[in-house]
Amino acid sequence: MNNAKRTVLVTGSSSGMGRTTVLALVKKGFTVYAASRTPENLFDIQSEHLRPVYMDITDIQSISETIGFIGQIDVLVNNAGYGLVSTVEDVTEKEMFDQFNVNVFGILRVCKAVIPKMRKQGSGVIINISSFLGKIGLPLFTFYNASKYAVEGITDSLRYELKDFNIRVHSIMPGFFDTNFARSNLVTNTKTFKEDSAYAEMVSTLAPTIVSQINEGNSTEEVSEMILEIIENVDFPARKTAGDKAKKFIPMKKELSDEDFERRVRAYYDL
Ligand SMILES: NC(=O)c1ccc[n+]([C@@H]2O[C@H](COP(=O)([O-])OP(=O)(O)OC[C@H]3O[C@@H](n4cnc5c(N)ncnc54)[C@H](OP(=O)(O)O)[C@@H]3O)[C@@H](O)[C@H]2O)c1
Repeated sequence: MNNAKRTVLVTGSSSGMGRTTVLALVKKGFTVYAASRTPENLFDIQSEHLRPVYMDITDIQSISETIGFIGQIDVLVNNAGYGLVSTVEDVTEKEMFDQFNVNVFGILRVCKAVIPKMRKQGSGVIINISSFLGKIGLPLFTFYNASKYAVEGITDSLRYELKDFNIRVHSIMPGFFDTNFARSNLVTNTKTFKEDSAYAEMVSTLAPTIVSQINEGNSTEEVSEMILEIIENVDFPARKTAGDKAKKFIPMKKELSDEDFERRVRAYYDL
């Protein structure tokens, strides 16, 4: 099929992996609805195939208006997300809910709106951007971890639910990638990050390491290339890792006992 006739919706497309994915897709000639709360961030991209659209994935009205307006959707890339950094002891109700509202309920809301179209079309591809932290826990990242473990569960369940309608569902589990994530999309709990917090030592050891690992992470093209491959390859695996850290830790997690794996992570991060 002519790519211009294939329509892709990408959430969280205003920066990082989302933006790189949009660039790769329009280059291939797909019609791309690039959704975010800041669509003006894409106005610098010159392409007849690009349609920047406003969508807040926490707002059901914003989702239904945008998706209603689009018409056919062949591929959905659920990419929008952010990370909460907080201990369980310190987290607020709002912080906890907001993390799931974007990373989990947001994906489910967009799927709920897009699936009827794909089902009627008799085909579709849904790609969830999860994380290697969707399979591996880290202290201070409990809520982000839980949200990404949930994305893995959503992927597994939807694969059964949608198979008979010829809708494929995949997840990509990136390691650390150099995006705006650490610069503007890590939300920190004020109590946890206080100098006199009971967790101050853990915070001072782990948080700067994670931030620098993200900022020095892999280049986002690896993810956008994988997305292109998933779209074209009907035999693509259910999930795949991207980036060095994911490729290092996910196979190790499979091979070792939980306790041995934990020892390796403790030694690696000096925990
Ligand atoms: N960078 C990494 O190391 C890494 C590793 C593993 C997984 N990931 C995952 O990759 C995805 C993309 O992140 P990225 O690294 O490319 O980061 P990014 O550059 O910060 O982009 C995040 C995108 O998500 C959207 N977003 C953030 N918070 C949102 C909220 N509260 N409500 C709605 N949309 C929101 C933003 O769009 P607007 O604010 O404009 O709406 C933005 O375009 C995320 O799901 C993230 O969890 C990242």
